[in-house]
This record gives sequence, structure tokens and C-alpha cells, in this order.
Amino acid sequence: MREEMVVASSLSVTFEQHKVLDGVSFKVGEGEVFALLGGNGAGKSTALKSFLGTVTPSGGSASVMGLSVASQIDVIRQKVAYLPESVMLYGHLTGVENIEYFLSLAGITSAKDKIESALKRVALQQDAWYRSLSNYSKGMRQKTAIALALLREAPVLFLDEPTSGLDPSAIDEFNQLITTLASEGSTIFMVSHDVYGACQIAHRIGLLDKGKIVGMFEREGDNPIDTEAVHASFSKRNG
Ligand SMILES: Nc1ncnc2c1ncn2[C@@H]1O[C@H](COP(=O)(O)OP(=O)(O)O)[C@@H](O)[C@H]1O
Ligand SMILES: [Mg+2]
Repeated sequence: MREEMVVASSLSVTFEQHKVLDGVSFKVGEGEVFALLGGNGAGKSTALKSFLGTVTPSGGSASVMGLSVASQIDVIRQKVAYLPESVMLYGHLTGVENIEYFLSLAGITSAKDKIESALKRVALQQDAWYRSLSNYSKGMRQKTAIALALLREAPVLFLDEPTSGLDPSAIDEFNQLITTLASEGSTIFMVSHDVYGACQIAHRIGLLDKGKIVGMFEREGDNPIDTEAVHASFSKRNG
């Protein structure tokens, strides 16, 4: 049995008496791509933040790599990588400088050639490595952030709407990269409102609606999850 890397058990989150997450449970195994899919305001980002300790549950529990978010969040933060909707990097630094800076915050020094090979792996175009990040596209910023995650050797990646705002070829590249990372053992937890994209890369999809899991879809063998089935279920609730 695969190791359970990300677990939500009856997780509930309440903001100002409004139940944003209502008894959400799921497990993500090692090397799995799990997508939490839902419309705007469904509670996706809140679910994701529950694993980063930036949202406090009103009930239930969350754990990452067997560590409790409630009591061991400092250890968890050292191990995971989080890509928010807009990747936070410094525009006045180059791609390589950003990576060096954020690695140093994590207490890691990495040789230039290691950084370069990480950037190569995520397929960031070579002429951008030493250019100011202010001219990077969203896709390029994302690649830089994923390279950083690789250098930190983060076994779990949390991605919030990773493909929103990417053009189709950047989405294809992103999907390929995530699929490769998962096949090499990385665990990916992403939230998205893009049915098609999620079906392409996820091993499992949880459909979130008004804070509740209302459907779970699983890939069978190498066949992607059936877009039609997920779409029908999704649009029934978000139409
Ligand atoms: N910090 C907060 N305080 C109060 N309400 C919040 C907070 N964060 C999110 N919400 C509300 O919770 C609901 C779910 O938000 P969110 O998890 O961001 O949804 P999604 O990411 O699926 O679009 C929304 O109605 C949002 O307004
Ligand atoms: Mg969100």
C-alpha cells in the first residue's frame, strides 16, 4: 500500500459562522496527483491552506507525511512546496538569484550547476535564467518555483490553480512536468476549476461543492479520468 502523504479527516473550516469546509475527507498517496475540483468559492483554496497551517480548522484534522498540521506545522513547512495562485518571486532578481535567495531562507546552499540543471529539468528557456524575473511570463515564474521545489527536495507539492492564466502550450508543458514528477515519486495536491486539465493529469479527482466532497473520480490504468463524467457532475452544480 502506498504511503499516505496528504490526509484530510472530516475537515471543517468556519469563517464568521459560515461553514466553508464541511466534513471533508480524502487521502493522497505517495506519487499520486490528486485534484480538488470545484467552482469559485467552493472552498478549494481554504482546503489547501488547511495543510499549510494558514487556516485553522473548526473540526477534524489535516496531516502531511504523517505529521499533524495542528502540532507539527513547522516541520511540515520545511518539507512541502506551495505554489499560490500568483507565484511570489522577486521581479528585480533573475531566475537563478530568486532560487538562490529562497534556498538560503531555507538554509540550503546550492551550486550554480545544480540550480541550472533544475531549471533545465523544468524546461525554463536557457536565455531567461540570468534575466530579470520582471519580464517572465506566468508559466516561466511557475517553472522557476517548481525548480525551487525540486532543489528543496520537497516530496509534496501544493498547487493552487496552477494552470489558470497559462496559454495552451504552457499548460501542456506544465501537465507533462507534473506527470513526470509524480512518476518519480512526488506527491501532488492541486486545486483547480479546470475540469479538462484536471482529468488529463490527476490520478484522482475530488469534486468539491459548497465545502463538501460530492464526487470522487479515479483513473483506471493508464486511461485518463473521463472528462464527460466529471464535467456532467461539475456543471450540474455550477451551471
Ligand atoms: N479568510 C477568510 N475570511 C472569511 N471568509 C473567507 C476567507 N477565506 C475565504 N473565505 C470565504 O470562503 C469561501 C471559500 O473560499 P475559497 O476557499 O477561497 O474558495 P475557492 O478557492 O474554491 O474559490 C468563499 O465564500 C470565501 O469568500
Ligand atoms: Mg481559490
